[in-house]
Amino acid sequence: MSDPTPFDIQKITVPISATDLSKYKELRLTSLPKDPQFFGSNYKREAAFSEQDWKYQLDSTNKATFIVKESNDKWIGTLTVLATSSDLDLAAPFQGLGVVLGDDTNRNIYAMVGLWVDSAFRSKGLGQRLIQQALSWAREHIPHENDDTAKIAILEVHRSNIIEKAMYQKCGFKVIPKAESGKGDTEWMIKDLDL
Ligand SMILES: CC(C)(COP(=O)(O)OP(=O)(O)OC[C@H]1O[C@@H](n2cnc3c(N)ncnc32)[C@H](O)[C@@H]1OP(=O)(O)O)[C@@H](O)C(=O)NCCC(=O)NCCS
Repeated sequence: MSDPTPFDIQKITVPISATDLSKYKELRLTSLPKDPQFFGSNYKREAAFSEQDWKYQLDSTNKATFIVKESNDKWIGTLTVLATSSDLDLAAPFQGLGVVLGDDTNRNIYAMVGLWVDSAFRSKGLGQRLIQQALSWAREHIPHENDDTAKIAILEVHRSNIIEKAMYQKCGFKVIPKAESGKGDTEWMIKDLDL
């Protein structure tokens, strides 16, 4: 792995400033058309976002978006982690997970979404650094007062995305086939955050 020092990884501050909002917008609208096969969203949808829509993506204490800054202050990578247990809308895609895990234990679920590093800066360990920072945030996040429910991190991965899958495996995630596997090209990856 190359020396990571020229790159700084930061959590976007909430409430988001106008400058950060415009930088994040530029980053997303650069990333979506470059690797469209790996995103749940797409360029056309987000290019039509209003200022309010962009703020909704970022202004919440139940989500954290991390970005990679290059030495010239250009944003060249990102990852968002969502505390789904704090938001029913966010939790919806993960219903049925208990069935997949083979138990009925209640858990706080943190979803990792939107991982992207500019192709000019890949294989420098930035993807893994983004994941580690997102996991640290999830471990420290308090979803509800006096809530000591176990925490897991989860993501949906395209079977064909060998690099993403290998990277998350290196960070301790395990593949769990989706209950409805066969319907699509994706499966779940899961990590226990209390270990
Ligand atoms: C997935 C992605 C974020 C990885 O970013 P990155 O900064 O290059 O990640 P890292 O440098 O931390 O790790 C990449 C690992 O993959 C390895 N790798 C790179 N290219 C590879 C290839 N073609 N085949 C196999 N492994 C490869 C690297 O060697 C590295 O492993 P190492 O730590 O053993 O050296 C980046 O490739 C990307 O943005 N891809 C497109 C978008 C995407 O797939 N996002 C995820 C779904 S939303």
